[in-house]
Amino acid sequence: MQRTLGIIKPDAFAAGHAGPILARITAEGFRIVGLKKLTLSAEQAGAFYHVHRGKGFFDDLTGFMSSGPCVVMALEATEAISGWRRLMGATNPADAAPGSLRQEFGTSLGRNAVHGSDADDTAAFEIGFFFSGLELL
Ligand code: RTP
Ligand code: MG
Repeated sequence: MQRTLGIIKPDAFAAGHAGPILARITAEGFRIVGLKKLTLSAEQAGAFYHVHRGKGFFDDLTGFMSSGPCVVMALEATEAISGWRRLMGATNPADAAPGSLRQEFGTSLGRNAVHGSDADDTAAFEIGFFFSGLELL
């Protein structure tokens, strides 16, 4: 079993898509190990997306991610990291496969509904960013 960190981003939460996205996650066979709703500050969003610091889209990204409530999730499955990214679809909703969450719920490159870790090390960092060990039992 592997774990990954998913986020229902502020655009999808505000549009009322948290329920359908959680239902889809369960239907696709992920176990929801940790779950919480929170609103990030811009500083917290910057710390979370620290690998993108210095890039042209960093301020837009952190501004958007701190613009309202989101839902953070620790998800468990076999091959959870790649499986969750496949379910999310391509970064740009315009390129996302039919049936993927970004195709269904994303509206632009910047407002693409969901986040997912991209590797073992980033999954470990990102899960630890939001959850204590006690919250993942
Ligand atoms: P995420 O981290 O949010 O799951 O998205 P990702 O792995 O598919 O894409 P990543 O390269 O990590 O980019 C993080 C987020 O930044 C926004 N972005 N904007 N304007 C641009 O060129 C640009 N590139 C990326 C996207 O919203 C992406 O989700
Ligand atoms: Mg990423």
